[in-house]
Amino acid sequence: MSQRSSFYITTPIYYVNGNPHIGHAYTTIAADVAARWHRHRGRDVRFLTGTDEHGQKVLEAAEARGMTPREHCDDMVARWQAMMDGLDVSYDRFIRTTDADHERLVHGVLQQLWEAGQIYKDQYRGWYLVKDEVFVTEKERDERLATGELAEGDFRLIEEANYFFRMGSYQQALLDHIEAKPDCILPASRRNEVLGFLRKPLGDLCISRPKSRMSWGIELPFDADFVTYVWFDALLNYLTGTGYTAGSEDGDWTAWWPCDYHLIGKDILTTHSVYWTTMLLAIGVPLPQHIYAHGWWVSSDGAKMGKSAGNAIDVELLAEEFGVDPLRYFLMREIAFGADGAFSYDGFLLRYNADLANDLGNLAHRGLSMSTRWLDPSVPPLGSRGPDEEALVELAREVVTAYATNIEALQFHKALDALWSLVKAGNKYVDTTEPWSLNRDGHTERLQTVLRHVQEVCFLAGALLLPVMPSKAASLLSKLGRPEEAARAHLDALLTDPSLALCGLAEGVSIEVGDPLFPRFAELPPRIAALFAPVDEPAPKPRPKQAKRKKGPKGPPPVIGFDVFQQLDLRAGRVVSAEQHPDADKLLVLTVDVGEDAPRTVVAGLRSRFAPEELVGLQVVVVANLAPATLRGVESQGMVLAAGGSEIVGLVSVDAPPGTVVR
Ligand code: MSP
Repeated sequence: MSQRSSFYITTPIYYVNGNPHIGHAYTTIAADVAARWHRHRGRDVRFLTGTDEHGQKVLEAAEARGMTPREHCDDMVARWQAMMDGLDVSYDRFIRTTDADHERLVHGVLQQLWEAGQIYKDQYRGWYLVKDEVFVTEKERDERLATGELAEGDFRLIEEANYFFRMGSYQQALLDHIEAKPDCILPASRRNEVLGFLRKPLGDLCISRPKSRMSWGIELPFDADFVTYVWFDALLNYLTGTGYTAGSEDGDWTAWWPCDYHLIGKDILTTHSVYWTTMLLAIGVPLPQHIYAHGWWVSSDGAKMGKSAGNAIDVELLAEEFGVDPLRYFLMREIAFGADGAFSYDGFLLRYNADLANDLGNLAHRGLSMSTRWLDPSVPPLGSRGPDEEALVELAREVVTAYATNIEALQFHKALDALWSLVKAGNKYVDTTEPWSLNRDGHTERLQTVLRHVQEVCFLAGALLLPVMPSKAASLLSKLGRPEEAARAHLDALLTDPSLALCGLAEGVSIEVGDPLFPRFAELPPRIAALFAPVDEPAPKPRPKQAKRKKGPKGPPPVIGFDVFQQLDLRAGRVVSAEQHPDADKLLVLTVDVGEDAPRTVVAGLRSRFAPEELVGLQVVVVANLAPATLRGVESQGMVLAAGGSEIVGLVSVDAPPGTVVR
């Protein structure tokens, strides 16, 4: 990685022939996380994204809507910008290839290459694939037809005069560069792919289209009958984004160039690693430091998700139902950056509940509630550290370094995995130190130390997560009485002096429990579940509101099928702690170990029969898949089975280890 204090990162610029989907969101969020991280670390960042508006594909999309290309693009760009704003993407410039400065730059570069004899006119005959906006050879066409992925109609045989860039003459220079700079194309497998491609002779690149056939593009400065080939135009956006003007050797643009990272999907590896780099070699501009090609989100049958396949995932729906930050987290955590990964809504739900609701959400919620309930609503003193705290601190030190290194290498999943080892350790620490027992036995100083360490783990998680989940992390920090700036400063200090790990909070500052950061989802939200409803059946009518049950004698409950019974997730649990609900006489707040990484909080109406201390250690049966509910301000994540009606007479007990299924 460059040691300059500036950091320049780009995404591909997206075609405006359709709506944004999960693939576009993925690259953009990855670039956003990197950009935010580097800003967080105090570097000057330029993050460029935008839209690719010229070419056949966009022209046809406009024609299909009965609009001029310009009207169509303006309309689509608004949608793309709304998508990016909705995903909290902190771009510095949203570039459009129809922007005046970009058109100027394309003209300048074409003119420079024309004058240098790097562009010539010739007759062309070949197959054009509109979907990818590229010419393919006869052999490539046959191969792609053989896969069944494309049909004959996808290729158009084109014969016409055109202008060509002498790309082939830069083949050796490009090979030398890639050999000398092994990390210029990442991951290594993609570099090998490009080297393989360059083993065959590299031809010249057709860089024009006659206006008579396709007029939606930037006119060639030396022939008004032609427009520029869309890829030649589009790739130059990366230089427009720096303020470069053709032929200039120095100037402000060198603060950003060579670009730190071009993030791209593996589908556009050749255009970036071969077309773009040879264009740069020809105009004498240094090559980008890294081109990083990530993998694809695919459907369960392995097909790339996208507009053409008709299997694209609507990211707006996911963000509306689960929240933007969980979506960002999921995309960065679920698959290795570089590899393909299958998307499923159930996978999303699982990851959300496990990592966000159970691990981080639970740690923050219980750490803060125990503190405010048993101590002052402020950050307690650190006190003296015993072996449990030392172990946690040691882990925190390792995690901070691992997190920073991995985010900087764009290994987002590894960074988050490392951080989660600390979050999970934080939950285990609560279970072993048993703050409820410390509170019961009046060990206030120890209780303070324990809860302070829990809060410190949350603080560190919040500071590290700001680039990934900007709002949730900021709200976690604010619950702990720390502004983002303080978190940034702490991270800075910590990366230089790891001995500061887990002492970033300010003693005595007010803290606040508030609502849980990540409420659990017992099942997929209805709008998402509806996507899987059988299409040929009419949508079920909304059920009439059930009449309120009258008090007093009532009829027997309805008979249910075994399938309904089977939907219950009953599990053996052990009551770890129990206390009076702070705001309701009849309720107790239990923490129950049901064999998960962290015990659950269950609010139960047992007070009429049990004192809290009678329940600790009891083995109970828990309904584990009950939708979470907030009862007088405390979130209940399940229910314990008890006997009796309005008067509880006893608990259903089971002699089995926590987590055992009860049938
Ligand atoms: N306009 C060109 C890029 C020009 S860059 C100078 C283009 N646009 S695109 O709209 O088709 O976007 C392609 C990019 O979207 C991919 O490179 C990738 O970043 C992203 N994705 C689209 N579908 C994807 C998946 N199913 N999975 C992951 N990302 C993919 O190509």
